[in-house]
This record gives sequence, structure tokens and C-alpha cells, in this order.
Amino acid sequence: MAERADFAARYGPWGIVAGASEGLGAAYAEELAGRGLNLVLVARRAELLKSLASQLCLKYDVEVRTVVLDLSGPEFAEQLLRETNDLEIGLLVYNAAFSAIGPFLERPVEDHLKELQTNAFAPLKFVYLFADQMLRRGRGGMMLMSSLSAFQGSAYISTYSATKAFNIVLAEGLWEEWRTRGVDVLVCVAGAVRTPNYLASEPEPTGGLGDMTMPPGQVVREALNALGKSPYIIPGRMNRLASFVMRHLMPRKAAVKFMGRILRRMYVEQK
Ligand SMILES: NC(=O)c1ccc[n+]([C@@H]2O[C@H](COP(=O)([O-])OP(=O)(O)OC[C@H]3O[C@@H](n4cnc5c(N)ncnc54)[C@H](OP(=O)(O)O)[C@@H]3O)[C@@H](O)[C@H]2O)c1
Repeated sequence: MAERADFAARYGPWGIVAGASEGLGAAYAEELAGRGLNLVLVARRAELLKSLASQLCLKYDVEVRTVVLDLSGPEFAEQLLRETNDLEIGLLVYNAAFSAIGPFLERPVEDHLKELQTNAFAPLKFVYLFADQMLRRGRGGMMLMSSLSAFQGSAYISTYSATKAFNIVLAEGLWEEWRTRGVDVLVCVAGAVRTPNYLASEPEPTGGLGDMTMPPGQVVREALNALGKSPYIIPGRMNRLASFVMRHLMPRKAAVKFMGRILRRMYVEQK
């Protein structure tokens, strides 16, 4: 109970989760409600948001507000501010993403631009909109989502992994800028997670590496437990090991080729 009160005092009274209707975002919402935060849940699918909101209100006795927004367009900031300007936001989790899988030129350029908008412009805008109130208060937290695919170029998801690299570097820089001002910044660099979106992409087994996927709840708990302790977290022991080998023991060129081979097997050769 004391831990719940400490977390809410540090990062409450309200948290905002962008991309909260399912998968990791819904898991963040559940975990944060369990830690005593009132929540603003943002995504496009109103029904999913509403049903999650009523479950969380009942189960955890917190207040939940839903905001239906498309983060892949340039014009969401005004609506977001209008619907949250009466709230004291102590924690931001930017979780929404779009990934266009496949050979680069087989995806329309609009898909690549949508990845940039949803995965890079929008989190930057969220951070900009909410950082000021946190810094003035001298407390708060910001969490961005990234991916192991962002530690090197990743074929067949090149734009996605580039946008996720943006999140790592942005979060690390802001962590250093704000760590002495009471605002904790963290980037969660996840490996494969069994979310509806990941499963819908129908990845073929990666062959030889075994099943390294993680459940969303575990990823979220590890990430939230790292907030305030480090600028980034890689959830899962096997993911930390794989990432250590690829970043520190393999030459970068070999890591790019290795990642390409895995992704080719997962998404291209079998289709
Ligand atoms: N799953 C994995 O294996 C994996 C691995 C590494 C990193 N990650 C990262 O973890 C995060 C979550 O991944 P995920 O697999 O749970 O799900 P996801 O399908 O990538 O997105 C999850 C949430 O984002 C919302 N969203 C997507 N586009 C949106 C838009 N234009 N406007 C508003 N909301 C939008 C979706 O809701 P609506 O459709 O209702 O809008 C959904 O609630 C992402 O940042 C992803 O890059 C995932």
C-alpha cells in the first residue's frame, strides 16, 4: 500500500497513456491504475477505450478519462490540450506506434511518413506539451517505447526501426537534461511482445532462437520499475543478453546482417 502511495505521490495524480486501447498500452493502463494513478487513455477506437476505462474504474477505484484521437495526423495537440487542461499530469507514457513491414519500396511512401508521424513527431509533441508543467512542479515521469530493432538498421522495417532509434536518443538526452530537476525520463526498449498487433503480423518462428516473446504485463512492470533509476530498460533477461551480444560483441555490419536474416525469415521468405 505504501508503495502505491509513493508511486502516486511521485507520478500522480494523473497519468496519460497514448495508444492505450490494447496490447502494451492497455497493460500500462492496468498497471498504472493498480499503482493508484487516475488516467487519460488516448487511442482511435472509442469502444475499446470506454470498456477498458470502466473496468479500471471499478477494479482500482481511480478516475479514467478517454480521449479519441488519431496520432498519425498533425493536428491533435489542440484537442489533447482542451481535454486535459484541467488535470495535473504527472506521468506520460507514449506507447502508440505504426509499423509497416515488408520490402521498403513495396510499401507506399505514405506508410513510411505515417510511421514518422506516429512514432516520432507525435511522441516529441506529447513530451513538449507535458514537460513544462512537470518541470515547474519539480516532479514527474516520461516514458517512451522503443524496440530492439532500433539498436541497428533493421531490414524490412527500416523506417520503423529508425523512428524507434529516435525515441532512444531523445529519451536519453532528456533524461540527462531533466534528471536533476525531478523529472524522470525512460525509454523501454522491448523485444517481441505477445500483443494483438504483434500476433496479427503473423511472424514465422525465428528459427534457432526459440520463443523469446514476452507477455505485455511483464514488459510493463519491468519498465515501470526502472523509471527513475536509469534512462533505458530492456525488459527480459534473454533480450538483455541478445542485445549485449549484438551491440558489444558483434561488429555493427554483422549485427545488421544478422537482424536482416531474422526479419527475412519472419516476414518475407514464408509469405
Ligand atoms: N509488440 C511488440 O512485439 C513490440 C516490440 C517492441 C516494441 N514495441 C512497441 O511497443 C508499443 C506498443 O506495441 P503494441 O504491439 O502493443 O501495439 P500497437 O498496435 O503498435 O499500438 C498499440 C496502441 O497504439 C494505438 N495507436 C496506434 N496508432 C494510433 C494512432 N494513429 N492514433 C492513436 N492511437 C494509435 C492503438 O490503438 P487504436 O488502434 O485504437 O488507435 C493501440 O492502442 C509500440 O510503441 C511498439 O513500437 C512493441
